[in-house]
Amino acid sequence: MNNFAYQIPTEIYFGRGQIKHLEESLLKFGHRVLLVYGGGSIKRTGLYQTIQTIFSQSGVESFELAGVEPNPRIDTVRKGVQLCRQNNVDVILAVGGGSSIDCAKVISAAVKYKGDAWDLVKNGNLIKEALPLIVILTIAATGSEMDRFAVISDMNTNDKLGTFSPLFYPKVSILDPEYTFTVPKNQTAAGTADIMSHIMERYFHNIEGAYVQDRLSEGLLKTCIHYGPIAYHEPNNYEARANLMWASSLAIDGITWRGNDVVNSAHPMEHQLSAYHDITHGVGLAIITPHWMKHILNEKTVGKFVDFGVNVWGIDSSLDPYEIADSAIKKLENFYASLDIPSTLREVGVTEEHLVTMAEKASNGLENAFYPLTSADVLAIYKASL
Ligand code: NZQ
Ligand code: ZN
Repeated sequence: MNNFAYQIPTEIYFGRGQIKHLEESLLKFGHRVLLVYGGGSIKRTGLYQTIQTIFSQSGVESFELAGVEPNPRIDTVRKGVQLCRQNNVDVILAVGGGSSIDCAKVISAAVKYKGDAWDLVKNGNLIKEALPLIVILTIAATGSEMDRFAVISDMNTNDKLGTFSPLFYPKVSILDPEYTFTVPKNQTAAGTADIMSHIMERYFHNIEGAYVQDRLSEGLLKTCIHYGPIAYHEPNNYEARANLMWASSLAIDGITWRGNDVVNSAHPMEHQLSAYHDITHGVGLAIITPHWMKHILNEKTVGKFVDFGVNVWGIDSSLDPYEIADSAIKKLENFYASLDIPSTLREVGVTEEHLVTMAEKASNGLENAFYPLTSADVLAIYKASL
């Protein structure tokens, strides 16, 4: 296991009714609040009204950035920065999923930065100060509620970039699984695939002796495999929603990979797909991941696939290692299919048109991945996924 530093400063309030902590959480930082949310689901579910009532009871003066897109755009970030500056905002409240939270994170830092917000997306080291951020999570997927990452797109240049800063950790995240009862089936499936991808990206590593990280990862993967279908078929199943929600937070920011850190493989490939075709992140990952696995399965990697097959999917350990690996990948494909996730890129509107450019952009840095990939490898994976 490698040396590492680990600190998650986000205060979590998990469970039913935890919105009772919203008022005290906001007022710690001030009473002028920018409320950031997406396309309107929070109005349809009644959460918006609940928040407004808390605002008026606690003397909060609120300003709104509504309509944050899935795959949030830099122009929306810029609008949020303007709203904060015009209204002298003290604290930002993001309500929604990764898109609203990520948009709010970059706004929080860009308000304090003299140049353009896109600079901070390109280079997180420029972030020296940020407004405090509070989160109410409404979908289990990205883990943005408890991590230091943000992903923002500029569709004019087909760039979707991840940035990070320790200042991006939300101060407080309110995780009430009941808020996820209304998440549509396709987003429940995509969210489950995203959580699993965050775990698998780092589970496939070459570092000796990271036993605790590997077993934690397997436990979280089994959690998604068990509860993903239950949440998909029974949207109001609290136990399933709760387990997925906590798995989402635990999957991404270190508990499974501090000490065994490797560069992500499927994520850079997916980010190009969303940058060029605006697809749902988790769906892109679910399509790409089995093809990535098939592409990298060889004598150097097969051992890890055996662990994956035996410990995650319960395959008989006495079988031939390649038989275990093939069967594990097939089980993963079948799992995604059971959640009705499309299995080809064409089904989500991707064509051959930009594949070469996308492969070149995605492969930047993949020489350091679990199994190093060139742009030719990435292109082959895209073609196999088409
Ligand atoms: O916009 P609204 O109307 O709220 O609807 C959303 C949106 O259409 C809907 N939704 C969310 N909660 C709901 C709900 N509908 C009904 N009831 C609810 N309770 O679901 C749709 C998707 O929302 P979004 O926030 O886009 O989903 P997600 O959480 O999957 O976020 C995706 C974004 O996060 C980035 C992705 O690339 C993508 O841009 N990621 C962020 C990461 C991070 N910050 O650490 C890491 C990830 O790997 C990922 O890249
Ligand atoms: Zn992801």
